[in-house]
Parts: sequence; structure tokens; C-alpha cells
Amino acid sequence: RTVAVVLAGGTGSRVGLGIPKQLLKIAGKPIIEHTIAVFEAAPEIDEIIVLMAPGYVDDARRIVDAAGFRKVTRVISGGDTRNATTRLALDAIGPDDCNVLFHDAVRPLLSPRIVRECVNALWTYEAVDVAIPSADTIIQVDADDCISDIPVRAHLRRGQTPQAFRSGTIREAYRLAADDPEFNATDDCGVVLRYLPHVPIKVIPGADENIKVTHPVDVHLADKLFQLAAQNPRPLDDRAYTEELRGRTIVIFGGS
Ligand code: CTP
Repeated sequence: RTVAVVLAGGTGSRVGLGIPKQLLKIAGKPIIEHTIAVFEAAPEIDEIIVLMAPGYVDDARRIVDAAGFRKVTRVISGGDTRNATTRLALDAIGPDDCNVLFHDAVRPLLSPRIVRECVNALWTYEAVDVAIPSADTIIQVDADDCISDIPVRAHLRRGQTPQAFRSGTIREAYRLAADDPEFNATDDCGVVLRYLPHVPIKVIPGADENIKVTHPVDVHLADKLFQLAAQNPRPLDDRAYTEELRGRTIVIFGGS
């Protein structure tokens, strides 16, 4: 059994709408509906659990019912932090062994290819992350905002979601974390890395369009990306798309 967990327990303070950003409509549908639809359509996924920001669970339930998502078995309240929401999801899944994919509700442009590769990788690995190379140089700064290190870019990736696990592994990592008063993580692979350091975490390629709607500008970007996907239903990193861009390149000779 493979369960997709849609993490929607946050309030989206950085977008600053006063309602959780996952309820915002983009391309005609709430963001969370686009996200759930990807898992609903994925043949690798058997069940979907949604964890919604407290106070908005009924809104999420209404969206699920109206869309007729048949794989969604539970819409429940999330926790105070992302990790608390993950813990509640693990409780909801119960003790049986299964595969679990945790995905940010606010990454509505997830591709079927990434879902498939995550689930396939779980045949070999107990934990799987999704990441892309960084176009920007990543610098490390100290408390005074001065550079303390510039790690080699070739070894750096930007983490996305889903993050996928065999349920026994992620449950064990969180059990160990519960005993640690210093526990502090922003994602689930970080919990496995810290508490089960012997477990290899396989990284599979994410996608540039799998953005996390975080700041107001991301709402515009996501809107545009949905428009592009509707007109052009092939992956944006496809060679044919590069050729199309070449055809659209305007060269200005001596322009001022
Ligand atoms: N999330 C969650 N439970 C929380 C906090 C976050 O399930 N207690 C989810 C969010 O709903 C989102 C994902 O984790 O889908 C990524 O988090 P982020 O983009 O940081 O969302 P918010 O916490 O909502 O945003 P902000 O930090 O701007 O308030």
C-alpha cells in the first residue's frame, strides 16, 4: 500500500492573505485541489490523507467532496509545526507497513514522473528525497551576515517534496526524535538523516516547475506555469521546448 500525505497544516504567513495559501485559487481551482488531483490520478498511489490547518478542515473537506476525489480517506487537522503535522499523519496511517509520500500542499505543479520515481526508488531505498541543482551560488553566512563558507555548488541541491519513506523507517526516526529535547527539523528527510544516520537517503531529480508557493510572487509564477502547461502539455525541460524558445528568440542588432 502506498499512501500520499498532503501537508496543508500551515497558515501561509509569508503570502499574508489572512487565509491559508493552499485555499487560494490558481488556474480556476484552489491550490490544494490541484495538488490532490496529481495523487488521485497517479496509479502508484492507493490512498490520500490530507492534514489541514486547524479551523479550515471543513473547507478542505468540501473541496475534496466537490472534486469527487475517491482515494482521500481522511481530512484531519494538522499540528503547530510541519513536523508535528507529519507525526499526526503517521498516527492516522496506523501501524501497518506501507510506503508513505509526504508532499507540501503548496506545490501544486508536481509531475506524475516524480511520484512514479519516488515510489519506484522505495523498492531499493528506505528513504527518498526530491531535489534540483541550484542555479544560484549558495553561500553560508554567520550571525553578522558575513560569508563564512561557499560550499561547492556541484554538491548542493535544493530540496523539494515529495519525501518518501517506508513507514517503519520514518516512524522509527520520529520515535527517536521524540526523546530528543533539542529536536529541530524543517523536513522529514532531516529527521531520518539525524536519527538514523546509517540509512541512505536516495535523491531523485525534482523539477524547476515544482515550486513551493511561498511568497506573493510565487502565486503569479504558478499561475503562469499552469497556463504554459495547459498550452504545452510536455515537460518544460523537454528539448522540443528549447527548440521552440530558440524560434522565439529576438536578436536586436544595434538597438538602443
Ligand atoms: N505545513 C503543515 N503544518 C504546519 C506548517 C506547515 O502541514 N504546521 C505545510 C504547509 O501547509 C505547506 C508545507 O508544510 O504545504 C510547506 O510549508 P510552508 O511553505 O512554510 O507553509 P506555511 O507554514 O503555511 O507558510 P509560512 O511559513 O509563510 O507561514
